[in-house]
Amino acid sequence: MSRQKPIRKAVFPVAGLGTRFLPATKAIPKEMLPVIDRPLIQYAVDEAREAGIEQLIFVTGRGKTAIVEHFDMAFELETTMKERDKALKVLEPTRIQPGNLVAVRQQVPLGLGHAVWCARAIVGDEPFAIFLPDELMIGEPGCMKQMVEAYEQVGGNIISVLEVPEDEVSSYGVIAPGKREGALTEVKGLVEKPKRAEAPSNLIISGRYILQPEVMRVLESQEKGAGGEIQLTDAMAQMIGQQPFHAVTFAGRRFDCGSKTGFIEATLALALERPDLADDVRAIARRLLAE
Ligand code: G1P
Repeated sequence: MSRQKPIRKAVFPVAGLGTRFLPATKAIPKEMLPVIDRPLIQYAVDEAREAGIEQLIFVTGRGKTAIVEHFDMAFELETTMKERDKALKVLEPTRIQPGNLVAVRQQVPLGLGHAVWCARAIVGDEPFAIFLPDELMIGEPGCMKQMVEAYEQVGGNIISVLEVPEDEVSSYGVIAPGKREGALTEVKGLVEKPKRAEAPSNLIISGRYILQPEVMRVLESQEKGAGGEIQLTDAMAQMIGQQPFHAVTFAGRRFDCGSKTGFIEATLALALERPDLADDVRAIARRLLAE
């Protein structure tokens, strides 16, 4: 048994406007765009449930209700499918126990830190996870499960990190690394979207967090940072030295589905691994590349 309080809740900040994928995301949340046949949000929710998380907290905004609908029971659909003898198994990942899905609204887009803070009443006084669904993490076990395993050893706060080429660091939160032991690195400092020359490393925060509830109090009075937004990274930086803070280097693959090329890469990579699609997709890719 671990000495740490278990991670039972996860916050999914999904209020963003998704302007990079317009016009596709005019009436559909970007988190509902499918990689093959699962919407992006589903991959994050599956990863959360694999890690033992029970309660999902969506921080949504206007026009984002499709995400909540997706995880609701679709009575008419299920009845019709049953009548037609169609298997309901495909809907299994979308089933969330009543009470285990909560949606709160972020009324103004003030940044990721503010979005997380909007969930404070539901998170309450326990450690919790955060998932940024744009970051598609594929691994066995999944990224959050790897982080929970690390958390059971060291407690405190844990973020997932990965290395990127130096010219990309200014798009992300970057860590100043301390001692390293296996996949675990001590976090000595954190900066959000630094200039390339000022970045303390090329290890970036890759959209998965396990945080102690005290971060909510820090966020309460957090001033605006990079891009004029209330940054989660700045609030986390203030917790270093107060509580243990570690980074886990994820053993697996990450696709940046916030970008079009990342999205295409994810679709292709995952299709090439699907037994029902791989042969056809490989043949198509070969033909297209030969043209
Ligand atoms: C957010 C975080 C950043 C993190 C990134 C991962 O940035 O603020 O620290 O590295 O997600 O995708 P955003 O992509 O919202 O600008």
